[in-house]
Amino acid sequence: MQDTATAREATAARLLKISAGSSYDPEIDIDWQAPQPEGVYYAPAPRLSLYGTPAWDALTPAQRIELSKHEVASIASIGIWFEVLLMRMLLRHITGKDPRSGHVQYALTEIGDECRHSIMFARMIDAFGAPAYQPAAVHRALGRYLGATAGGIQTFAAALVAEEILDALQREAMADESLQPLVRMVSRIHVVEEARHIKFARDELARQVAGSYRLRRGYCRIVVARAAYTVTHALINPQAYAAVGLDPARASKVAWANPRFRATLQWAGSRVTGYFQELGLIEGPAKPVWRAAALI
Ligand SMILES: [Fe+2]
Ligand SMILES: [Fe+2]
Repeated sequence: MQDTATAREATAARLLKISAGSSYDPEIDIDWQAPQPEGVYYAPAPRLSLYGTPAWDALTPAQRIELSKHEVASIASIGIWFEVLLMRMLLRHITGKDPRSGHVQYALTEIGDECRHSIMFARMIDAFGAPAYQPAAVHRALGRYLGATAGGIQTFAAALVAEEILDALQREAMADESLQPLVRMVSRIHVVEEARHIKFARDELARQVAGSYRLRRGYCRIVVARAAYTVTHALINPQAYAAVGLDPARASKVAWANPRFRATLQWAGSRVTGYFQELGLIEGPAKPVWRAAALI
């Protein structure tokens, strides 16, 4: 037990030190007035949900770029929704714990990071002139359930699913010089700060799983798989397709039948699914849910 507590504090001490050294203030570090150059994609075309389908081929070059903007806005919108949920789960996690511990202080630091991220994503969506896309009612209901009931395993596992998937997409975007500078800068800031969150969640999740009972793990496996399903299915809001004149329901069906899009999701989630397999979190009745989420 002493070892777990010591390890937990060692992780926190390291992450608090890194956080003090490299944190961004998007208010100051991003030029929100800079114009968005015309004819420039907001995300790499091959990562877009319709890429490679007849529906994609039928779009004009301008429509393709417009769709890339709305897919990024949709992902940022779900990012905000998820960060707000994560903040709620982290607040539950630290309630009643010793505030003098590095673990609690790092959790508070992460909540501070997520506050700034959500504002940054909101400003980016606003700068695009895009709507703030809301997840479907079923996902919002699951979010409320998770926010009210999540224990350690659900909190850190759900955090990892959303953070790792977004991280994979943003690492690619920040390095791609052909993309909109605003998207690249927002991605860079998020990637730098999320690396700490991912480390925090990975270490804590392993400790939580090791210290859990079998029955509890069985329940958590299902909840986490369902949360992963929500992350991938809420990523591209069907209304994003309406921005380029496509029928939302029909285009969404095309996207989910698009093997390229499913491959992108599986690629973006490969680090987290690999880790969860190591921890024994993708087993039994949870497996088909992960498959339906297009993550395995
Ligand atoms: Fe974030
Ligand atoms: Fe995060």
